[in-house]
Amino acid sequence: MKREVTVDRVVQASFPAAEGVVEGIVRQIDGARCLVEWDHGVSEWYSLRAVSAMKEPAMSPQKRRPARTSGPVDPYAGRPRKFPSRGADLAQLGVRATTSPDAAPFELKRRAASGSKPEHVSLVARPRRGEAPWVAHRALGHGAFGAVFDVTLRTEARPRVALKICFAGARRFGIEREIEVLAEVSRRRPAPKTAPVGGLAELETFFAYRDASAVAMRLADTTLSDLAKGLRGVAMRFSEPVALFYAIGTLEAVDALHSADFLHADVKPDNLCLTYGEPDDVGTGKPVDAIAAAGYRVTLIDYSLAVDLRAYENPDQRFVSGADSPAQVPEYCWPPALKDASWRREIDLYATGRILYQVAAGSILTKTLTSTNLETRLPRGWNRRLWADVLAKLIDADESVDLGALARTMRRHLEKNVLAGDTAKLVEALDHHRRLVTGEARRGADAAATRVKPMEADESCEPPEQRTVRVSPSPTQPARGRAKRPRSEAPARSSRRARAVVSYAEPKGNAKLRNSHGVVWTSR
Ligand SMILES: Nc1ncnc2c1ncn2[C@@H]1O[C@H](COP(=O)(O)OP(=O)(O)O)[C@@H](O)[C@H]1O
Ligand SMILES: [Mg+2]
Repeated sequence: MKREVTVDRVVQASFPAAEGVVEGIVRQIDGARCLVEWDHGVSEWYSLRAVSAMKEPAMSPQKRRPARTSGPVDPYAGRPRKFPSRGADLAQLGVRATTSPDAAPFELKRRAASGSKPEHVSLVARPRRGEAPWVAHRALGHGAFGAVFDVTLRTEARPRVALKICFAGARRFGIEREIEVLAEVSRRRPAPKTAPVGGLAELETFFAYRDASAVAMRLADTTLSDLAKGLRGVAMRFSEPVALFYAIGTLEAVDALHSADFLHADVKPDNLCLTYGEPDDVGTGKPVDAIAAAGYRVTLIDYSLAVDLRAYENPDQRFVSGADSPAQVPEYCWPPALKDASWRREIDLYATGRILYQVAAGSILTKTLTSTNLETRLPRGWNRRLWADVLAKLIDADESVDLGALARTMRRHLEKNVLAGDTAKLVEALDHHRRLVTGEARRGADAAATRVKPMEADESCEPPEQRTVRVSPSPTQPARGRAKRPRSEAPARSSRRARAVVSYAEPKGNAKLRNSHGVVWTSR
């Protein structure tokens, strides 16, 4: 089928040298020819006729371009704004790029969920296409657009990083989009002088091949979702100092996007990474700043659904996600949006409120969260008034809510009333969380060398849910009720296990907390 060729049209083609389909974007039209920039960085001129006969990806934005209306628009139905080139974005972020016109030496394989078996994603080496520029250790997680692996790059410094790879056909909603968002945020909002607790992902290296791309970013220790699971596994709750610390980080991280006029639109515990520093590195000065400077932080990741508010003529533009557009998981979605009401900042404010409520009340809600009677549902001994006040503002999701100001209020309360000069109390509680989620194994480069055996080509890695979580009691967080026994050691790995893959299966466990990406959008 012939299609009209316009600048920004996404096209697909197969080349003899590449085994898969290659995607590109029309960058320029000049008379009867047009310039296509392929995803691996090569730009080539084609006749308009050739390009109009090219296929479009299944989730191509232009397929769902809505009729222009004055009302709410579907932010995923078009490419509303032209950003500078990828090269300019990478330079803005100081990210190294490795581009190759060849086919990728790796592949993501997805096995759909069947019966009680959850969806499973594997990173498969393709030695025929050369050596991958990393050594993979284990899978960290996956979502609708791709999967993330814990790897060591084969560069001189051999950094241990998180490597995100997108499914074929999802590049535009994955890594490429994330780079665009981060670069634009950093242009609009220069990095703050003092290290905040909450922020956005730090990218390190971008790899582009003809048929796939990958991005290496700073490796976090866990996500808020996995920490909550770990705590529930030992029948523990968040104590007020750590709850405040994570709340401050979450508010600051969402604010990092909002203050640059972007919405995240997918705020949930799976997309909040936690990194722990070294207790000995915490210096003097204001407690929260000193802890953040020592490397303790909350990182909001995954900008696949981010919406650029500056891309619309109407400064108050509102949005609706179309039936076939990606959407947030219902659990964290602002309830009116589930009933087709239009949204703007509410989408992130409500999700943030819901997360903070779960951190404070220690429970997972299935029902709608309302701002009434909040105080009575919060732990005794906490500053319930302050928490209820912050939560009510977020849940009621008024457009004027200042996330930075809420973070500062919580910071003052934490420093003045809860810690009262005793920084060690919070550091100790955070270190307990680190031990809980890492099973004492540090993720630093040194630990990587001594503790985690790099994956050989014919060896499989344990999916995260099979790792043993070792727990040591914390003086600041006594278990409530009878603590469950830690799970027993995982049995020794059989050498006959699946070969040449680092795989990840959706964790079983509590269905309510289970990552429900399947609901979001199934990419093909
Ligand atoms: N930097 C990181 N450090 C540790 N784990 C990460 C990191 N980035 C992502 N993950 C894990 O991978 C999962 C999927 O990553 P994400 O960027 O959210 O991809 P998707 O768009 O597929 O949801 C996350 O929920 C998290 O568990
Ligand atoms: Mg995600």
